[in-house]
Amino acid sequence: MVSMTTSGTKVIPFSRPYLTPNEIPNVTAVLESDHSHGDGTFTALATQRILELTGAHKALLTTSGTHALDLAARLLDLSPGDEVVVPSFQFSSGATSIVSTGATPVFVDVDLATGNVDPAQVAAGITSKTKAIQVMHYGGVPADMSAIMAIAADAGIPVIEDNAHGLGVKTNLGVLGTIGSMGIQSFHDTKNVHCGEGGALLIKDPATAERAEIVREKGTNRSRFLRGQVDKYTWVDQGSSYLPSEINAAVLDSQLEHFDEIQEKRFAIWNRYRTELSYWALGNDIVLMSPPDFIHAAHVFYLHAPTAEAQQRLLAYLRENGIIGTFHYVPLHSSPAGQKFGRTVGNMANTDSFSSRLVRVPLWTGLTSADVDRILATLESFSV
Ligand SMILES: Cc1ncc(COP(=O)(O)O)c(C=O)c1O
Repeated sequence: MVSMTTSGTKVIPFSRPYLTPNEIPNVTAVLESDHSHGDGTFTALATQRILELTGAHKALLTTSGTHALDLAARLLDLSPGDEVVVPSFQFSSGATSIVSTGATPVFVDVDLATGNVDPAQVAAGITSKTKAIQVMHYGGVPADMSAIMAIAADAGIPVIEDNAHGLGVKTNLGVLGTIGSMGIQSFHDTKNVHCGEGGALLIKDPATAERAEIVREKGTNRSRFLRGQVDKYTWVDQGSSYLPSEINAAVLDSQLEHFDEIQEKRFAIWNRYRTELSYWALGNDIVLMSPPDFIHAAHVFYLHAPTAEAQQRLLAYLRENGIIGTFHYVPLHSSPAGQKFGRTVGNMANTDSFSSRLVRVPLWTGLTSADVDRILATLESFSV
């Protein structure tokens, strides 16, 4: 539904899910079949597409990115007293997955250029209690994985990649989500590819992958049973139900089928913002998103206002003009639950600065060229 401002202009929402041609026929096929629970034909098809896109050894669809993180945390066998080093600038789910095991997230600072965790701060956060490092690739811009993998190797601990934003992003170390021991994707309807709510866990090590199938399926070896590897299935490990229904998988399969087209449309919008705002940014002390080597997922386009006050003024100005921009992530170290459940190492100056000045503008697949013209003109009419 299109909302209007009081002056009768169309409101451009911050995000809007994209519809490709096959979601509705796929969902109809599922509903008319006898199989709408998980792990049917569409789960297999969508999983195969994820494997092709990422080159992962194993991918398991989950009910959300959050559940993929929960599943990863369970597979690490974390327990109270253990610690996991995480960036403070990230979504809550990275931390809740750790807290749900009884372990403690240790918040460290990020790199001001990308919002990704700063390897030097990761190293500073490691103690004898550290059992893993979690990184998040903000906007699908790769964190410094060569430095982080080296720190993890020295400490003998695994790296978990929160790649909710960066499906299929290629780097010289491999595709994001497949460089560490495990990686997660989100298919929430704000993501480039979605199924309403959904996610995936990518797993490198075959033994962990086998165990992940069990934990995902209520602690049973049902997946082995379905492949004919055991003659009955039973409860063999801890677990819960992390598998999505075929209805979600049917939507996801169509979205993944159109991945290239979706990315092309999103990159065209991202490139317009990046190119056409340069002059205005320069004159207003505004810093535009500048991924190293321009590697990113066209998931977000953001800019940094010179001050927190200017961020608020710019967001209000966009809203007054019927354009919904937004901030991102109240840093977890300063959140109520972060203070209760976590521990902070370092002064967090970059995290606070990155978050308090960040303005994200609408970037979604169906945004028209006229919408982008209007967003650009509105931004350019704002003076800091
Ligand atoms: C970086 C990041 N990680 C994890 C998640 C959680 O994913 P989901 O909403 O699929 O649970 C999100 C969701 O927005 C996210 O942005």
